[in-house]
Amino acid sequence: MDNALKQFIELNIPAIEKEMYQLVEKIQAPEHLKESMLYSLKAGGKRIRPLFVAAVCEMYEQPLAPSYVVGSAVEMIHTYSLIHDDLPCMDDDDLRRGKPTNHVVYGEALATLAGDALNTLAFGILTRLDIAADKRIELVELLSVAAGAEGMVGGQILDMDGEQRLLNLQELETVHVNKTGALLRFSIESGAVLANAPEKERRALVEYAHHIGLAFQIQDDILDIEGTSEQLGKTAGKDVASDKSTYPALLTLEGAKKKLVDHYEQALQALEMIETNTALLEQLAQYIVKRTK
Ligand code: IPE
Ligand code: IPE
Ligand code: MG
Ligand code: MG
Ligand code: MG
Repeated sequence: MDNALKQFIELNIPAIEKEMYQLVEKIQAPEHLKESMLYSLKAGGKRIRPLFVAAVCEMYEQPLAPSYVVGSAVEMIHTYSLIHDDLPCMDDDDLRRGKPTNHVVYGEALATLAGDALNTLAFGILTRLDIAADKRIELVELLSVAAGAEGMVGGQILDMDGEQRLLNLQELETVHVNKTGALLRFSIESGAVLANAPEKERRALVEYAHHIGLAFQIQDDILDIEGTSEQLGKTAGKDVASDKSTYPALLTLEGAKKKLVDHYEQALQALEMIETNTALLEQLAQYIVKRTK
């Protein structure tokens, strides 16, 4: 990993996590509910979504404090999506982020409700951000679209359809753009909102995010085949076992790797429209395609 990115990650992940844990610790709620919410949040994860919010703010030399709050919100939505994704009625997984899944530890009812609570808390914390009211509203609107039926939830539905029949490439792209791409797009676009990015550059960032979202999920699908459960911190080989439509299933492993590089290159190309120094975003793109978990 590039040194500048390594430094950025080492500096910012602790700040993001501190903010996020405090936001949950201070809520008035049944202790076992908070414990279950914090269990999955504290299990780790790459924190790639909050890192993107911070990276865009950093790029425009804006203060990072609000980005930690927005990053916490999207990480909460992401973590809730994983808790639900692992439930027996969905992917039925018992390993996540190197630990037993939430429902294995707390039972299905509490796991479901911990997910619900993370989902709703994310919107609450955006409304209390210390920024102009119109921006807060814009962020709430963007997150509700990204997380909901037109975004991640809609993508999860189509993803399940892809276990019943082999989707075509266009359908599969729609799955990836929604189930994974939507929250990544929010992470990047919310950074642009916080940093007051010029409209033209915001559009370029959204284009970058589109390709990053696809690249991210293609690599997830590749790792599901090539990785081990120990390395991934989640059960490897799930997609083949559930006959899921994935890029490797449709295009072969080699074809999927080619698509991955295509989207990586298109992501970098989108950054050429931006006047500011985009090195950090270039490095994050590289990190995504080269990651091993
Ligand atoms: C896993 O996301 C689920 C997908 C959307 C592919 P991540 O790979 O970001 O998982 P963590 O947060 O690092 O555990
Ligand atoms: C899930 O995709 C994406 C979400 C919205 C949670 P996967 O089912 O491929 O994620 P993993 O492989 O279990 O992390
Ligand atoms: Mg799934
Ligand atoms: Mg899964
Ligand atoms: Mg997967």
